[in-house]
Parts: sequence; C-alpha cells; structure tokens
Amino acid sequence: MSKSISDRVVRNPSANEPFSAILEKNLSRRAVTRGGLGAALAAMAGLGLAACGGGGGNSVPLLPPIGGENPPPDTELALGFESLPNSMTDGCVVPAGYIAHVLGAWGTPLNDNAAPWDRDGNNSSNDLLNSTGMHHDGMHYFPLDGSSTEGLLAVNHEYIDENALHPNGPTVVDGKRPAEEVRKEVNAHGVAILHIRKEGGHWNIVKNSRYNRRFTSATPMNLTGPVARTDWVRTPFSPNGTQVRGTNNNCGNGTTPWGTYLTAEENWAACFVNTATLPRDQLRLGVPGAQGRYLWETAAGDPTEVQGEFSRFNITPTGADATQDWRNEINGFGYLVEIDPYDPSSIATKRTALGRFAHEGAAYGNPQAGKPLAFYSGDDSRFEYIYKFVSEAVWDPADAQRADRLAVGAKYLDKGTLYVARFDEDGSGVWLPLTEDSVGQGGRTLGDEFGSLDEILINTRGAADFVGATPMDRPEWTAVHPTNGDVYLTLTNNTSRNASTGTNAANPRLNNVNGHIVRWHDDSESAGFRWDIFVFGSDAGADADTNRSGLTELNQLASPDGLAFDSRGILWIQTDNGIDGGRNNAVARATNDQMLAVIPGALADGSGTGPVIHADNQGDLRRFFVGPNEAEITGFAFTPDFTSIFLNIQHPNNWPAYDNDDATAVPSGTVRPRSSTVVIQKADGGPIGV
Ligand code: FEO
Ligand code: CA
Ligand code: CA
Repeated sequence: MSKSISDRVVRNPSANEPFSAILEKNLSRRAVTRGGLGAALAAMAGLGLAACGGGGGNSVPLLPPIGGENPPPDTELALGFESLPNSMTDGCVVPAGYIAHVLGAWGTPLNDNAAPWDRDGNNSSNDLLNSTGMHHDGMHYFPLDGSSTEGLLAVNHEYIDENALHPNGPTVVDGKRPAEEVRKEVNAHGVAILHIRKEGGHWNIVKNSRYNRRFTSATPMNLTGPVARTDWVRTPFSPNGTQVRGTNNNCGNGTTPWGTYLTAEENWAACFVNTATLPRDQLRLGVPGAQGRYLWETAAGDPTEVQGEFSRFNITPTGADATQDWRNEINGFGYLVEIDPYDPSSIATKRTALGRFAHEGAAYGNPQAGKPLAFYSGDDSRFEYIYKFVSEAVWDPADAQRADRLAVGAKYLDKGTLYVARFDEDGSGVWLPLTEDSVGQGGRTLGDEFGSLDEILINTRGAADFVGATPMDRPEWTAVHPTNGDVYLTLTNNTSRNASTGTNAANPRLNNVNGHIVRWHDDSESAGFRWDIFVFGSDAGADADTNRSGLTELNQLASPDGLAFDSRGILWIQTDNGIDGGRNNAVARATNDQMLAVIPGALADGSGTGPVIHADNQGDLRRFFVGPNEAEITGFAFTPDFTSIFLNIQHPNNWPAYDNDDATAVPSGTVRPRSSTVVIQKADGGPIGV
C-alpha cells in the first residue's frame, strides 16, 4: 500500500460485536499469544486435514506445474545469515556474502516501441504502454521449463507518483487534465509480464520477447462469475456486462495451483467520482463525491477521447439508463484478476465470485485431491475484514498440467462460496458464509437484505457487516505454510482503533501504530478455525504491553505488509512503515523499511506449529534486508532453486543511482526516484537465506 493513496477514513459503520467489545481483554490476549494455537493444533492433530487445512499425502507442489518439482521439506532448514542492524542509508542493505541489483525500474522498455527512460520525465504515454509501470508491488516468478535462470516475472504496478512521472508534476489547466498526461498515468498502472533471463550471473529483461506484456488501467478484460452479465456491469463499452477496461491499483498478488497469476485491485474506488447521492455499496467503499484521485475524469471531452476513455471515471448517473452513461463502470473494479503469463494472447479475467473490496492479495490453501480449493484475501482498510473463497469444484491434480489455464481458472474460481472471518475471544473463529440464506442482523438473511448473490458480491463489505464479521487492523498480505497449511496474515496498523471503537482479541492494542501478524488453522470438519497472534510489531524500547513479542534492535519491526512463504518453509515479512505519511512511530525513526525471515513451525514431520515470537526466541526472527529511505519493501518471488529472490522497492525518495545498477549504491546528488525490482543473490551462487 501506499503512503499517498491508502484510505484513512473509517468506512465501517457496523456495530459488530467485536467492534464494541470492552477494552483490553488480558485473559484472551495471554491465552492466544503464548502457544494457544499450538495446543489447539495438537488437539486437532487426529482429525485429519482437508482442503484448506493443508498437509496430507495428496498435496501438490506450490509452484506452477511448469516450474518442475519442489524439493521436499528440509528438516535441517535453518537461517544462515546474521540479522542486520537498523539502517537509514539511502541504498539497499543485504547480509554479508550477498549481492543485489536493480531490475526493471519504472520506465524500462519492454520492446522497441518504447523510447529509453528519460531522467527528465519526458516519456510519452506510448512509452509507458511499452515499458514497466510505476510503484511495483506484488510479484511472482513463473519459470520457463522449470528454469531458475529464465522465466516470466509478473509485477504489479500499484499506483503512481505524478511528480516523478511528469517533468514538472501533473498539469491542470482550468480544472482539466491534458489527455496525453492522463493516458500516461493510466498506462503507468497495472501489471507487467517480463521475460527475464540470467546471463553471467546477472538478470536482464529479454527485450522484444513475445512474452513481454503490459496490462494497464485501459486494457480490456473479461468479467466472469456471478456479477458478470448482470445489470450491475452493463456499460456503453460492454452492453452485455462481460468486459471492462483496465485494472487499477494492483497491490499484492496470488497465484493458483494451475500456474496463473492473481493481481489484487486495492485502492481503486478513489479513481472514480460520483457527484450524486452514493448508493450504499459506494458509500461503504469510499467513492469520492467531488473529484477522482488524479482528475482523470476531467480529460473527458478531449477531441481525441476514444469510447469514453476519460468520461468513464465519472460514474455520476446522467443518462436515461446504464447504456447512456458510465454509472456502472466502477462495478467492474474491486476484484482478483487472473492472468495467464504463459499465453501472451490471453485476456485477463476478473473473478467476481471472490468478492469486491480493497483486495490486498490472495493465497490459496494447500490443495488436496478431491477437496475444494480455498483462497484467502484481506481487505486493507481500517476495521475491514478477512475473506475466504471455497471453490465448488473439487481439486483434480491433473488440472495443474493443463495448458488451458484460464479455463481451469473458470472451473475453480467462478463458482463457490465466499466467507468472512469472525475471530472469537477464546482463540476459535468461524467462517461466515456470504450467501443468500446466511442469517445476519435481526434474524434476516442476506437474501432478505441484498436480494441475490450478485448484489451481495457487489457490496461485499456491507454483506460482511450484516453477518457480524470481525473488524481488523487493516488486513494486508496472506501466506500459507507449505506443509502444515497454517495461514498467516499481516495486520499492518490501525491508528483509528481507540476507546470508542474498542479492541477485540485478534486486534488487542489501542492506537495500533505497529501492527501484528495473525495466523490460523482451518478445521477440516467444520467452518471453524483456531487462531493466535504470531508476532506483534514494536520498537525494541517499548514497554511490555506494546512490545509483546519481546523484539530487539535486530528485529524490531512495524507495519508488516508483504508476506510470503517460500516453498522450503521460510516466512518472509516485509514492512510498509511510512505510517500515516511520515516517520510517525519509533521503528520508523530507527530504521528504513525492511524484510525479515523466520522459520515458523516444526518441519520435521510436516505437521505442528512452533511457538509464536516471544522474548526467548528472538534469534529466530532475523532482519535480512533494509531498503532505501522512504521506500516500502513489497512483493516476493524466488527461483525454484532459491538462488535468486526478487523483491520490490516502492516509492523511494531518491533512489536508485542513475548509472549504477548495484542496488546497495547510494545515489550521489538528486535523482528522479524509480520504484524497482531488486534481485538478491549470494555472491557464491548458493541458495538464499540458509
Ligand atoms: Fe497496497 Fe494495502 O497495500
Ligand atoms: Ca501497506
Ligand atoms: Ca501492501
């Protein structure tokens, strides 16, 4: 997420029980932070594990099928680097023995249709259409023929810095934006598919490869699932409601067991404007009433405008019906979007069955043959919720080998049940179905309140309010343990949690400036789960009530955000601690954003979960990487042999250097900042982290 586009307004009006609960539940807190889940899992050990629970003999590799086989869990797995000290250097910092270089900084041409990046900001909209976009975020490496030296890197481009994108920032004349600038901004958003290859130890983009692609905020995409073809999504562009142009504010990502990429639409609502009275779903989502974030709508009427390319961002109803104005344009946004990176002719597909909200990312539960698949996704705003989609179809491992990957996606992602999480005080929880017959407030059903499933999905937040979900401290990324199936999720921070909102057991700190990581394990036999809090962010010097995990100078962290397991079982934690737009907490005043590593759980027999982070196991949580000033660390990918890992530096202030692709180099003088991927390798070519 982003300092500049995150939604700081509390839009949850519900009085769900956890919202109004009494302050500070010490009993629950102690119970769930000191091995509560471990004990619970031990009790559940005899129950067997199912689709979302993970483990068991039928699980398939987490990597896409083209990626070859994963190595078996390494029973000797241990971190092999010393934790880095705090850093406020304006360059990347890696452990001794490691190297890091810049790859695909924004504006890097993918083909000969783009001019080289111009350090004065003069690239055109067409250049951006054929180059990497801005503000890199979620990411995944898709190997070609299983290779660890050649593959496709899918990269989200979450949002833009208009001051860095244009020579002198955005132009506004008489309240209107120039069409060319708007197109350039639209094209700087979205997703890039980069064909990359390692040659001589150095990763490069294979320029002009047929795999190289850009999806922007104008690229036509398909809509599928329950919302597609309904009156919600009919527009002048797509009268039958099957397509929409563009994907916006692509934050975190997910993948699928069949080798596709999922990109998550997060803070898209503010790109639109509706000057009329907002319908309840738009009120709940925070659609602006005066102007869109970048004033894209003000370029409407430009003589070069094509098919309402600018007008569509003004969703105010003005015509006789939805075919006469752009009132429904916004209903094509807010989804998880599936992309087949291996097929350059494929059309990105928005899977509406997985809900419409500020999707941070997605992670799937460990698949088991004959069981449904589960996908988890957080809604990153204050007091929003955690969701789980369970497919109607049961998993057939043969589908991992199919070449018609988006057809496989349709099989598993277009029909199923969306649930929302309620975290209870005793360390248990329940997945509440968002279906027409689900009972909510006053004994009424979601069908009574919202009509049919398409409206439930359009107003996912409202439906979740109605059934009593637990308001969380900004749910960000999700990660699933590769063998035991535990699900980890970052709750980045919430400075709006105060005496009037109250706390709940899963979000137990008032004015939560540091964030925490919650984890849970789904019960195979019910819609229940057990949960605990894996680590509380804090500065090392805080009192025990804040520093509940006993963090030290060597691993103090705040605002956890990016989160990923590699397939060995190392959990990588990334931070975005520009909280509320500045260095407003003690961790931010001590160190730049960072990536840490930890190995949770006992891997020896593929089951069981180790203790949460506490005062006596600090050495297990180690700082691996620190980024340049003011930059967030986000996105994580790795090659199948673990010898290269990729992360993204988002919104640096004065980095990277112009003529040096060593990511650790500190620029001399002032540079035009460029979000970028950074590739980390061991100098000796060995596997990362161990
Ligand atoms: Fe785009 Fe919630 O981070
Ligand atoms: Ca964030
Ligand atoms: Ca994020």
